[in-house]
Amino acid sequence: MNQGSAASQGLLEGNRFIRACLRKPVDRTPVWFLRQAGRYMQEYRDVRKHHTLIEICKKPELAAEVTITAAERLGVDAAIIFADLLLPLEPMGLDFEFQAGEGPVVHHPVRTAEDVKALRTDRADALAYVAQAIEKVAGHFKDRLGIIGFCGAPFTLASYMIEGGGSRNYIETKQLMYRNPTAWSSLLDKLVTVLTAYCRLQVDAGADVIQIFDSWVGSLSLSDYREYAFDASRRLVRAVQAMGVPVIHFGVETAGLLEQMSQTGADVIGLDWHQPLDVAWRSVGHTRAVQGNLDPITLFAPEEILELKVKEILRLANGRPGHIFNLGHGIVPATPVENVASVVKMVHGFRLEEANV
Ligand code: CP3
Repeated sequence: MNQGSAASQGLLEGNRFIRACLRKPVDRTPVWFLRQAGRYMQEYRDVRKHHTLIEICKKPELAAEVTITAAERLGVDAAIIFADLLLPLEPMGLDFEFQAGEGPVVHHPVRTAEDVKALRTDRADALAYVAQAIEKVAGHFKDRLGIIGFCGAPFTLASYMIEGGGSRNYIETKQLMYRNPTAWSSLLDKLVTVLTAYCRLQVDAGADVIQIFDSWVGSLSLSDYREYAFDASRRLVRAVQAMGVPVIHFGVETAGLLEQMSQTGADVIGLDWHQPLDVAWRSVGHTRAVQGNLDPITLFAPEEILELKVKEILRLANGRPGHIFNLGHGIVPATPVENVASVVKMVHGFRLEEANV
């Protein structure tokens, strides 16, 4: 701890990212970006020339290098471990690959009760390579940055397992859910078991926070979310919190779900960009922190517009403890990297008093 007496009084203990997760006051709003290590960054493209996405994930030294390079290049307050949402599918017995330009493809999607029954829940240890990468990143940053581990939420992972990839209408997923609720809940139970063990590996390795991505949960009505997805998410959130770390729970197109997502008990709720931050925060409730919520495509706007949009979000947060600046979803590949770095400077340079004059 190098912050002198303030730290010894507990005023500045922990880095600003973790403090914000816990709704403690911070010196500057912390900032990081969904998909901050990715194809928009030359350094990542250079590594990708020689390795596939899965190779990078499975080689801890490469995954750690990619994670560290992105966080340092941008000057952000947190590093999210380089991995992919779908990695837990493999030890459960489902092979998948990333096909160029098509996203993930699962070779034998889960469609029946028998398929669910065949899934294994006892091999999360096969994901130890992610934990090894986290150890390296945590060893590098020490306490300077927050180290974020992550996993998919049960609903979103189930949707990949059932659809066999991305989907527009989630017809197969919803059919299983409506037609075979027993198989559906068994699938979600199995996912909770595997994801809990996977998160434990990540926390033991040094993850300070776990983000649970329910990226596609916005495809559900509120009543279906309550009936078919909420309980499994809540159990996973609680299980991770019992490991002693805060949880960030994120989804897209969740305006109608925020209040219920907040009931999972997650410490931080990730917001997409569709609602103003203050409106969304009210739905979440001020007893939770929030993360967000710049439209990722704003990163293509001229600097003056980008700055207006960044400051608008910071003004709506209004200095309330518990705001982590981020995008409403991931950085897309063509994004100019210098604009991403500029946002970090804008967020760190922001003072509420100046903004209000
Ligand atoms: O910096 C980071 O954010 C960490 C790395 C990270 C990746 N995937 C690497 C990756 C993270 C956090 C993820 C999570 C992930 N993966 C999610 C949830 C986040 C979200 O966007 O809501 C999802 C839905 C996936 C599944 C996935 N992985 C898809 C749909 C795709 C294809 C998309 C595309 O643009 O091709 C991926 C591939 C992927 N995962 C890439 C990266 C950097 C890009 C592909 C590549 O490098 O070849």
